[in-house]
Amino acid sequence: MVPQADSRLDIKNGCMLYVEDVSVSFDGFKAINNLNLYIDEGELRCIIGPNGAGKTTMMDIITGKTKPDTGSAYFGQKINLLEMSEPEIAQAGIGRKFQKPTVFEEQSVFDNLELAMAGPRGVLPTLFSKLNGEQRDHIEQVMVQIGLQDHSMARSGALSHGQKQWLEIGMLLMQNPKLLLVDEPVAGMTHQEMDRTAELLTSLAGKHSVIVVEHDMDFVRSIAKKVTVLHQGSVLAEGSMDQIQSNPRVKEVYLGE
Ligand SMILES: Nc1ncnc2c1ncn2[C@@H]1O[C@H](COP(=O)(O)OP(=O)(O)OP(=O)(O)O)[C@@H](O)[C@H]1O
Ligand SMILES: [Mg+2]
Repeated sequence: MVPQADSRLDIKNGCMLYVEDVSVSFDGFKAINNLNLYIDEGELRCIIGPNGAGKTTMMDIITGKTKPDTGSAYFGQKINLLEMSEPEIAQAGIGRKFQKPTVFEEQSVFDNLELAMAGPRGVLPTLFSKLNGEQRDHIEQVMVQIGLQDHSMARSGALSHGQKQWLEIGMLLMQNPKLLLVDEPVAGMTHQEMDRTAELLTSLAGKHSVIVVEHDMDFVRSIAKKVTVLHQGSVLAEGSMDQIQSNPRVKEVYLGE
């Protein structure tokens, strides 16, 4: 079987993620302060904001790594993320790409994708079972999507930094997530790799909802539809890149232009 999102996922009204009135404090410091975020089905949302604005903490809350003090978070209309563990949330269809690579360097691109399809607890069954046609097609399709179809048998450790990052995204795609969270995807990439990453993330939108946190403004500009600016744990502004850039409050706290 190829993994599928949770059958309880209800996105009939087009909203993939609701985060409402969420706050969390660490030792009395409000890292997230009455945060509201609504992500549509198939949307590509960029999130920007200065260091310490709470961007990663926001992702930690959505993926169950951090539980907020107050507020609510729903995946679709029915799935209450605050009642679920990290693995349950991943299983339900929310994939997260961390910056530190988790590819198995000694394994090929193909094998990494195969292992990712099985999920965290499925290593043994996959190694000893044969892939069916549907599973093989899914791996091939993801390899094309991430542009590594000519590197299927390459040892993952031998890939370039950018290629490893795409493989990571491919490993997430093997689980068929409905929502993908990507934190600083282009850090350390060449310009060419950044352009390819922009194409990849743009191509994922539509079929998936994608939230991209990134500091590189040229990159954000190249993919941006709707942009959210976080500041001190709250939404400071939301809109198109042009609207954001001409917003006086944003200029003041962030862009400094
Ligand atoms: N587990 C934690 N314990 C204590 N403080 C934390 C914890 N996680 C985050 N913080 C604090 O919360 C604030 C928000 O951090 P966060 O990492 O979410 O910011 P960010 O917007 O991702 O910043 P950056 O752009 O630098 O990645 C920071 O002041 C950080 O030090
Ligand atoms: Mg961060």
